[in-house]
Amino acid sequence: MKKLFLVANWKEHKTLSEAHQFMISFLGNDLLSYLAKNVSVDRKIILCPSFILLPELAGLLHEFHLSGKIKLGAQNISPYPDGPHTGEVSARQIAEFASYVIIGHSERRREYNESDEILEKKVSAALEQNITPIFCVSDKDEFIPSGVTLVAYEPVDAIGTGSPDDPKSAQAVASYIKEKKHIHYVLYGGSVTSRNVDLYIQQPDIDGVLVGGASLDPVEFSQIIQNANPLL
Ligand code: PGA
Repeated sequence: MKKLFLVANWKEHKTLSEAHQFMISFLGNDLLSYLAKNVSVDRKIILCPSFILLPELAGLLHEFHLSGKIKLGAQNISPYPDGPHTGEVSARQIAEFASYVIIGHSERRREYNESDEILEKKVSAALEQNITPIFCVSDKDEFIPSGVTLVAYEPVDAIGTGSPDDPKSAQAVASYIKEKKHIHYVLYGGSVTSRNVDLYIQQPDIDGVLVGGASLDPVEFSQIIQNANPLL
C-alpha cells in the first residue's frame, strides 16, 4: 500500500492554549471521516510542535483514541544521551511522546551551525530510541547519515517564501536521492499549501510533504491532507 507522509512543522509557534484550539478544530472538521473513508493510501499524519507542547498533544490524541492515526514528532533532539547538557532534550525524553524527529532543518543548520558530524550524532541518538528521523537536505548531494530512511528535500529558496520548487525538479531530486543514497521515502518541503500539494504528491518518487506556515491553520492543514491524493 502506498505510504504518504503529511508532516506539520510548527517551528517556534503556538502556546499551549493555541495548540489546544488547533487540535479541537483539526479533529473536529471533516478530516476524521475523510480518513475513515479513504483507506487505500496509508496516510502518516505527523505533527511536530515545540517540545513544551508534546505532552499536551499526546494527551489529547490519547483522549480522542487517535494515537494510532496521528503521530507526533519533535523538531530537534540532543546529540547526547541523558546527562549534564543544559537546555537540551534527550532522545529518551522525547521517546515518551514522539515517534519522529526532524533533524538537519536548514534553519538549524544556519542559525545553530549544525555540522554533518553533529547531525550524524543526532540521527544515532534518535535511532537508539526507535525514533524515526525526518532528515532534511536542501541539495541532492548533501550528506545523509547512515540509518536514515526518510528524507525531506527542502530547497532553501522555497522555504517560507511562497515560491515552491518546480514539482518536476523536486521529483528529479527525490528520484536521485532514492537511487543514489538508498533512501526509502523522500518528502518535499517548501511553501506547500492545499492548492499545490497534489502537484508534488502525484510525482512518482515524492512520498509526502513537510509543511511549515500552512500547517499552523487547522482548516488549511486538514485540506492539505485531503488534497494529497497520489496517482495509484
Ligand atoms: P514552509 O516551511 O512550508 O513555511 O515553506 C517548510 C519547512 O521549513 O519545513
